[in-house]
Amino acid sequence: MAGKQILVVGSGGREFAIAKALLASPQVARVYCAPGNVGMTAIGVEPVAIAELDFAALVAFAKEHQVDWTFVGPEDALVAGIVDYFHAAGLQIFGPTARAAQLEGDKDYALTFMQRYGVPTAQHASYDGVADALAGIDQFGFPVVVKANGLAGGKGVVIAQDQAAAESAVRDLFKPGERLVLEECLVGPEYSLFVLIENGRYRILPMAQDHKRALDGDRGPNTGGMGAYSPLPQLAAADYQRMVDEVVEPTVKGLVAGEYHYHGILYIGLMLTATGPKVIEYNVRLGDPETQVILPRLATDLFELVDACLADADLPAVTEKEEAVLGVVLAAKGYPQAPVKGQPLKPLPAAPGIAVDYANVAGDLDHLTGAGGRLLMVIATAKKLADAQRMVYDYLEELNEPNCQYRHDIGDRAVK
Ligand code: AMP
Ligand code: GLY
Repeated sequence: MAGKQILVVGSGGREFAIAKALLASPQVARVYCAPGNVGMTAIGVEPVAIAELDFAALVAFAKEHQVDWTFVGPEDALVAGIVDYFHAAGLQIFGPTARAAQLEGDKDYALTFMQRYGVPTAQHASYDGVADALAGIDQFGFPVVVKANGLAGGKGVVIAQDQAAAESAVRDLFKPGERLVLEECLVGPEYSLFVLIENGRYRILPMAQDHKRALDGDRGPNTGGMGAYSPLPQLAAADYQRMVDEVVEPTVKGLVAGEYHYHGILYIGLMLTATGPKVIEYNVRLGDPETQVILPRLATDLFELVDACLADADLPAVTEKEEAVLGVVLAAKGYPQAPVKGQPLKPLPAAPGIAVDYANVAGDLDHLTGAGGRLLMVIATAKKLADAQRMVYDYLEELNEPNCQYRHDIGDRAVK
């Protein structure tokens, strides 16, 4: 049997990690990534100059290059219906349909789903206009969480500490024709749980913790995510089991009852509150940067897992490697408000136990430049999380990249 040809859609660090894991399978011969990034050529992935929302060109490419199946990284393409489009063209693709992707693309829709199927979440209400939302603030204490209803690239949530902050958040986040959501502010450690779902069957991937704020100590603005690690030594087995029983089980049952025919990843962002786990949000894809630390911990072949899911066959068991993996994002100086662009990047020396997953880079492999935002992630694998943390920070200090920034406390919550 000839080796498989796979197409990954997307261009960031998450897609780098997905492509790398698929290419590591003995069954896979080639991995294309559209549009991908130039850094991917360092590991033998082939970038394809097609935008992730150009479905017609993606389908034409997949047919012409006899792609066996396509793995979708980002939410925009899923919410815009890439899976339905590929199915209509008779092609196999891993990810939920546009209807199921509303669980990420429409917060009100997701909250209604959780309520209908008994999935614990925050107290909430949604509003059609600014006046209604302003009048609704009274029902919640402070802080109150104000959310745009649609996709906002991580910029659609404000945690308002008082009346004035809540009022200005309502005015800032409101978009004509879209709803606005107010929520009770949940308190507790936040975790990312990734479930691979094959209609009613599922497998839970290794868990990770992200660091969403730009600055050390969880200060500064929200970002796409500044670093992550896996596993989570601080998470008690009993709390993990509650997440499975109280959140994952009713969610998967709801997807079956609602006839979503879900085939893809569901990323459940949850808070472990004093009264148990509660869902903060559903995402219909893998997380960035969590993917970069969970896929290296997977002992199961990612290709086999996805291939079985697409064939509606028995899913292989998911087993985790014993090692710990920790990654720190190197972002452009000024990220997220005003990232510097075009800075030349120093060559990244090879080091034992260290991998680099490229994201927003341009130029050519020998002369990479930053293209704004999150540029790359330095990832270490070690027996102990504390060692992985030290390896990443030693590497970043040695590199001493001037027009960039990174957090210095990724993993502290688990290590200290
Ligand atoms: P999202 O854009 O939905 O990923 O939310 C961004 C971040 O806001 C989350 O990762 C949480 O840290 C925080 N957040 C969202 N909803 C709540 C909530 N109800 N209570 C507390 N924090 C929240
Ligand atoms: N790391 C957060 C996200 O992918 O949404």
